[in-house]
Amino acid sequence: MIICSCAVVTDKDLEQAVLEVMSQPNAPLPTPGVIYRHMQKKMQCCGCAPLAAETIYTKMEELEKKGLICPCACATAKTRMKDIMNPPERRVARTLREAPRPLTAPAAPAKHKTVV
Ligand code: FES
Repeated sequence: MIICSCAVVTDKDLEQAVLEVMSQPNAPLPTPGVIYRHMQKKMQCCGCAPLAAETIYTKMEELEKKGLICPCACATAKTRMKDIMNPPERRVARTLREAPRPLTAPAAPAKHKTVV
């Protein structure tokens, strides 16, 4: 299946590139940029970037299940990807934003003055 029509990249090309990249010592995070650079291809319109990223991570998991790439390298890549997608400062902000608000007592009803 064609993933990128600009650079003519198929899912098989991505799978082979992921295998080669993830087999390197200290494998880099297999971002679409890293994978395309490894294939000596260049994105032009970048319309395929979301599909390329999804395909790369699907292929990475498939290769891990087949035992063709090291599970430790995959775990490291997944952890680094989670950190990029959800950096610690965002986690703190989200935690603070989602923290339960302290309960406050409802305002006491106004007392009516008795006119004599
Ligand atoms: S479709 Fe991949 S760069 Fe345009």
